[in-house]
Amino acid sequence: MRSLEEATRPPLAVTPSSVVSLSTVMHPSFGAGVLGPDALAVAVEGLARSAANERLDIGQGEARAYRRIFSSGNLEAWLIAWGEGSCLGLHDHGGSNGAFTLVSGSLLELSVDLATSERPKVSALQQGSIRRFGATYVHEVWNPRAPVAMSVHAYSPPLETMHFYD
Ligand SMILES: [Fe+2]
Repeated sequence: MRSLEEATRPPLAVTPSSVVSLSTVMHPSFGAGVLGPDALAVAVEGLARSAANERLDIGQGEARAYRRIFSSGNLEAWLIAWGEGSCLGLHDHGGSNGAFTLVSGSLLELSVDLATSERPKVSALQQGSIRRFGATYVHEVWNPRAPVAMSVHAYSPPLETMHFYD
């Protein structure tokens, strides 16, 4: 296992425009506690509209790029750019609930909920489709082909650790 910091995170930047945008999609009932998958799905849906025209360039030699677009005591959200062929291997989210949506491009996902006896499944995300999940969800996500894919992810509580699986 390795920490999320070790695994993926570049320097972070929260843009004022993104924070303002999120305030337009947050519902008062979200409150300050841990948000469930449905509330996170609402958050990523609104953030995806705000992020539709955002640029996020992938650095030379990098497979993906990240920008944290919102952070609070109970929620954080990320915009991720996935280069062609890039993959984030099988991982959990350290006990956080989550949701994500595809803004542009194409992504494939291998997923399994460890709380069930279901077999892992592979599915193609459609632009605008939303995945929502609880703390026992494990998945691998990759971009199978050009162009760069963009996605928005939200977690509650904010991510502190991700565990990677062989
Ligand atoms: Fe994930």
